[in-house]
Amino acid sequence: MATIEQTVRRTADLFDRCRRFTAAREMIDRGLYPYFQPIEASHDTEVVIRGDTKIMVGSNNYLGLTHHPYVLERAREALYRYGTGCTGSRFLNGTLDLHEQLEHRLAALMGAEASLVYSTGYQTNLGVIAGLVGRGSLVVQDRLNHASLLDGATLAGGELARYAHSDMAALRRVLGRHADANGILIASDGVFSMEGNIVDLPRLVEIKEAYGARLLVDDAHSVGVLGENGGGTGEHFGMQDRIDLTMITFSKSFASIGGAVAGPEDVIHYLKHHSRPLIFSASMPPSAVATVLACLDVMAQEPERRQRLWENAGYLRDGLRSLGFDTGESETPIIPVASGDMERTFIFWRALFDACVFTNPVLPPAVPENHCRLRTSVMATHTTEQLDRVLEAFRSVGAQLGTAGAPA
Ligand SMILES: Cc1ncc(COP(=O)(O)O)c(C=O)c1O
Repeated sequence: MATIEQTVRRTADLFDRCRRFTAAREMIDRGLYPYFQPIEASHDTEVVIRGDTKIMVGSNNYLGLTHHPYVLERAREALYRYGTGCTGSRFLNGTLDLHEQLEHRLAALMGAEASLVYSTGYQTNLGVIAGLVGRGSLVVQDRLNHASLLDGATLAGGELARYAHSDMAALRRVLGRHADANGILIASDGVFSMEGNIVDLPRLVEIKEAYGARLLVDDAHSVGVLGENGGGTGEHFGMQDRIDLTMITFSKSFASIGGAVAGPEDVIHYLKHHSRPLIFSASMPPSAVATVLACLDVMAQEPERRQRLWENAGYLRDGLRSLGFDTGESETPIIPVASGDMERTFIFWRALFDACVFTNPVLPPAVPENHCRLRTSVMATHTTEQLDRVLEAFRSVGAQLGTAGAPA
């Protein structure tokens, strides 16, 4: 007979959940699994996967800077000057003069007093929210905010409230119900990463000021894309000075990896000494920092890239719409295509992949049941000929599967 200890051990094996998880293996067996596709080579707008060249419309490389000769050269120089990694936290041995240069440049771009560089955008959101929000405080978020903003609220331990996507009346109701909160942070994506629409910043700012809350805008998909200088959502609306904190990632327009928050000097100083995801993690590697600095130079010197990005976005969106596809609320280079339920979405993804077009499926819980999409995004460096090939693939696959016109 099993002892009590053996019974407890058997019923509480954490690995059981792993063995019960079969959904992904079933998709692999059916040849419909879209994730972890190993890229063997990347040539800016095209990648090679298992020997086949695919047009990449599933990246966040908006300005197409990952392969810019000047950016590559600056990254190479930093690699040889500082080595491959910092091997320590910003707080201790992991701060380079390059990190500080980057913080000054970003503060200037965002019209802020100061900024602080983290190792990823995800960590930035965790670090900012958990650094500022404590028990008794409230974090209010748009339902379609990025997971890192939500996870930041969980880590923070304050109360989390969410409002329906872009519903400013719902936001007011939430704030009205929490008049006794000990400090309120409203957090919103600037450009929503799966929808491609821009937040109504003027109304958001009006509400946060009326309720005495602080506002954090996640500009992951806005910096480099929106605003005359690529200064993001605040610059787009001419309101940089009315946003309390802006979060940026370097994993998109900046062709690298890392993140930063820009805001008042005293808040940045506080975060430097209280933000655990900053303090207890190694800093951004030298070549990655140099890449971002170089991208800032290129952004200033080649504004035509941003113009080309927007022309490409309009071209692909109009093309998809004229083929009968539903691209939802998209008004930026992020262009989701409605694809119906999960099964249809995987089949649609695979057919496009076989037609040498790389897209990303978006499934529940990121979207409601039966409202899946294939997320496409354009780059400044896509040629019209490439976008025409993408449109032709959508046309022929859509006709074959009857996917055009699926509900968003
Ligand atoms: C809106 C948004 N915020 C934050 C992040 C996290 O950024 P990173 O990739 O730098 O960790 C992402 C990336 O997917 C994002 O889309």
